[in-house]
Amino acid sequence: MIAVTPPMGWNSWNTFGKDIDEKLVFEIADAMVEKGYREAGYEYLVIDDCWSLKERDKDGNLVPDPVKFPHGMKAVADYVHRAGLKFGMYSCAGILTCAGYPSSYDHEFQDARLFAEWEVDYLKYDYCNFPQNADGINRYHIMSMALKASGREICFAACNWGHHDSWNWMRSIGAHMYRSTGDIFDNFRSFMGIFQSQLEHLCQSGPYCFNDMDMLTVGMYNQGNVAIGKPCTDGEYRIQFSLWCLSGVPLMIGADIRNLNPEMEKLLLNRELIRIDQDPECRPPYLVGKRSVMVPEEDRENAVEPLRAVKDQLYTFIKHLSGNEFVIVYYNLFEEERDVSCIFADAGVPYSSGYGFSMRDVFTGEELGVKRDYHIVSVPGHDCKMYLCRLVNCGK
Ligand code: GLA
Repeated sequence: MIAVTPPMGWNSWNTFGKDIDEKLVFEIADAMVEKGYREAGYEYLVIDDCWSLKERDKDGNLVPDPVKFPHGMKAVADYVHRAGLKFGMYSCAGILTCAGYPSSYDHEFQDARLFAEWEVDYLKYDYCNFPQNADGINRYHIMSMALKASGREICFAACNWGHHDSWNWMRSIGAHMYRSTGDIFDNFRSFMGIFQSQLEHLCQSGPYCFNDMDMLTVGMYNQGNVAIGKPCTDGEYRIQFSLWCLSGVPLMIGADIRNLNPEMEKLLLNRELIRIDQDPECRPPYLVGKRSVMVPEEDRENAVEPLRAVKDQLYTFIKHLSGNEFVIVYYNLFEEERDVSCIFADAGVPYSSGYGFSMRDVFTGEELGVKRDYHIVSVPGHDCKMYLCRLVNCGK
């Protein structure tokens, strides 16, 4: 079975764009094993757009670029499989891919058979150059069926950027994950905007079909293909990774993991954060003490700055995990350090209940002991604090 919990892996697009080849794939596969990513759960190694020639062959088959992939795609898949990983590829529902390569419109069954022959385990399926008169929902259903007909179990990573309210139908057409927004860029506003727009849809994301908030930019520091705007700080990357884990969405790393800053490597390999992302109950986060969306619907169109419509820019979420555990997370979206708090009554645990939370810092492992009634902590500007919690009976 696939996508029982959110798929995890690495994708070439954010850092490498069109500059992909088999050497890169081999080195990333080695890095995934040697640096502990595979062990931590990152299992898919996915090449994105720009892997093929610009023309199909005389039989109508897609042809890997012989300069980039001189041994063909089966050899690449074999290498990835020998590393104990799964191999992912990319195509598109339109006439051409976003970068102008041949795409699978009206070739769905033929292409799916070819991917299966190459022993591909994952297909990212984009939405560029889609014919105006074609049915955007049905074309995703067709590729889903084509993958099923191939006889191979292939994770179907649909990527229609949220068109036609994808969260309402992607599960029913058999997708395992669905990109619900436009592309992420390596800056704070970009990823905050993505999270804000999906928060109210996360209740529809769960086992076998997950909302995909796009590949992570954690650790990229504006190196690579999606560098637009102000580079992120480490605190901002902590916010990004914690938001993705809190949301229980796919974790596809976009950075060059061969040479990652050690602090960011530690972040992406943090087992507690990954456990929070992979929790089998797949519950969305709950915004404590405010309504359930960060930006009111009527203000969203005008919300230029992240969360501009919300005055205080301090957020506390609680997420229910399996095994009677909880996560409490504090976000400080101000530039300066601020106190952020959780009134436990707003998180379902009033003082009169006699219960409090035992709390452990997810980033440092520090035990805070048992807190009752409320918890308050100082959070640096554009950063977060995250705690794993259990309910404890404190007596009267
Ligand atoms: C679209 C997708 C990106 C990436 C590029 C490739 O923009 O949303 O994730 O796959 O195409 O061209």
